[in-house]
Amino acid sequence: MGCTPAPAVSGLFWAVRAEGAEREHKGGPQPLALPPPPISKARSSAGARERETLALSPESPASPPASAAAAAPDLPPLLCLVSAQMERLLKDDAIEEKGERARMASFVGAMAIADLVKTTLGPKGMDKILQSTGRGRSVTVTNDGATILKSLHIDNPAAKVLVDISKVQDDEVGDGTTSVVVLAGELLREAEKLVNMKIHPMTIIAGFRMALECARNALLQRTMDNKENTDKFRADLMNIAMTTLSSKILSQDKEYFAELAVDAVLRLKGSTNLEAIQILKKPGGSLKDSFLDEGFILDKKIGIGQPKRIENAKILVANTAMDTDKVKIYGARVRVDSMSKVADIEAAEKQKMREKVQKIIAHGINCFVNRQLIYNFPEELFADAGILAIEHADFEGIERLALVTGGEIASTFDNPESVKLGHCKVIEEIMIGEDRLIHFSGVEMGQACTIVLRGASEHVLDEAERSLHDALCVLSQTVNDTRVLFGGGWPEMVMAKEVDELARKTPGKKSHAIDAFSRALQAIPTTIADNAGLDSAELISQLRAEHHKENCTAGIDVITGSVGDMQKLGIQESFKVKQAILLSATEAAEMILRVDEIITCAPRRREDRM
Ligand SMILES: Nc1ncnc2c1ncn2[C@@H]1O[C@H](COP(=O)(O)OP(=O)(O)OP(=O)(O)O)[C@@H](O)[C@H]1O
Ligand SMILES: [Mg+2]
Repeated sequence: MGCTPAPAVSGLFWAVRAEGAEREHKGGPQPLALPPPPISKARSSAGARERETLALSPESPASPPASAAAAAPDLPPLLCLVSAQMERLLKDDAIEEKGERARMASFVGAMAIADLVKTTLGPKGMDKILQSTGRGRSVTVTNDGATILKSLHIDNPAAKVLVDISKVQDDEVGDGTTSVVVLAGELLREAEKLVNMKIHPMTIIAGFRMALECARNALLQRTMDNKENTDKFRADLMNIAMTTLSSKILSQDKEYFAELAVDAVLRLKGSTNLEAIQILKKPGGSLKDSFLDEGFILDKKIGIGQPKRIENAKILVANTAMDTDKVKIYGARVRVDSMSKVADIEAAEKQKMREKVQKIIAHGINCFVNRQLIYNFPEELFADAGILAIEHADFEGIERLALVTGGEIASTFDNPESVKLGHCKVIEEIMIGEDRLIHFSGVEMGQACTIVLRGASEHVLDEAERSLHDALCVLSQTVNDTRVLFGGGWPEMVMAKEVDELARKTPGKKSHAIDAFSRALQAIPTTIADNAGLDSAELISQLRAEHHKENCTAGIDVITGSVGDMQKLGIQESFKVKQAILLSATEAAEMILRVDEIITCAPRRREDRM
């Protein structure tokens, strides 16, 4: 692990070469599993010792730490002592990386992650296949930044920070998970150039902070708000949903799905509880056969001999083991000396089951849904009592059923008065494709609905669900914060212009950082254009010129491959998403910039704890 810096090479290139790995980071295809950053062992690695000693005395040969003074006879004794102390500071298996090397390792990792997802950005972005090497070798085809990054096993700590912001973006606002990583990566790419120009990271951070404030204000001034006008607001929501869906698998039918998503979200009447919207995937048919259904659909069959339709249903949702009272055949050994005793045991067991079923029936219900199995005998008893009994409903299924029918999941039945039953108008069996399912309509939580997705295969359905989830999240956020912006690179150009002006007004080295921030912002429209196979340099310069006019609404029209009017094209985005992208990306870049040392610690061993 020699670390002789090649002269006149960029720091980034240097760090990669010094590692000896063939991963020259020049924008080409990136490896999926990031190689670990250049590392040095604090004590156990002979290489590290060699470097430390070399740093003190370039001519002296490598030598063990105990003889540091002997190895560097020219050094003053105090310095030798400090050096030996430093070496003893960390335990054997701890790894330490310092200064320039640590910073470069972080930059390389973060930029590699950003470049990895970069190609998926925008309406013409490509998808990625993620194949697991585990059992089943499951395959996921996706365009969603968070899904891609979540599936990677990464060793680089800075790259992990970017993966994390993408996840947080997904949880908070649902969309923009690629943009946030690309922007953070670009900020670090620019910062790296400034560090190479010997500008201190703290100066860069101060500049970035000023630029962030300016960019945010620029966005705030240009937001549009139609919350007073219901029709216009619905049109905004439709546009936002279509913009979100246009970069996804549903882009062909984006109008249809945008309508579905807007209808579903408007039913919630301002609530952001997306739990009330169930997405049910049923392979078969085409994406266009998907539909919105009011109420709740449970993917289960009605048992034999039980009513196929119930009106004014009183539902008991439970998670209970119906065989608790059964003698566990595998757990206990029962010795009997005659067959009649076996019959007695069976009878006793049946009696216990009957008692439990009677307790449940005593709740005055006509539908019983259990998370666990119900078994034949109790099922017969329920059928005799005219009760619809549904067994083995999945966990999410019963939780959602309890939520939408206004009930609570019960597990004990001794006090019927303390159990909250769910209610709905009609329960009936329906058919979707070839499958029979149970439909609960007129549920207590009137806003609840189900979107039934149809599609050619499980993979298509999974990606359709992720895309629809993005749209639903963004819409529910927009219903709360009704400010909207144009899309297609418009917000980034608006911010870049203001930040550029701020850079010109700011004296001192900070202005370089502010200028760099403006360039990083422009990387988003550049990437959207590049991914669509357009001449990004030409388009961005045209776009910049357009944005110097007052009240400009120009952005990239990827369909015609030119600068287009975002207002006419109806490409809109939510302000909340853009703001989250801006803030998280800057914070993450700042955090990585502050690093000057990476210490990798092994978990404490048992003997240390004692
Ligand atoms: N029709 C369009 N023309 C131009 N740009 C568009 C169009 N539709 C969307 N965009 C732009 O594409 C970008 C969003 O791309 P994409 O959805 O691939 O990434 P993301 O939202 O950051 O991440 P993800 O959707 O994976 O969470 C936004 O900047 C948006 O303005
Ligand atoms: Mg998106």
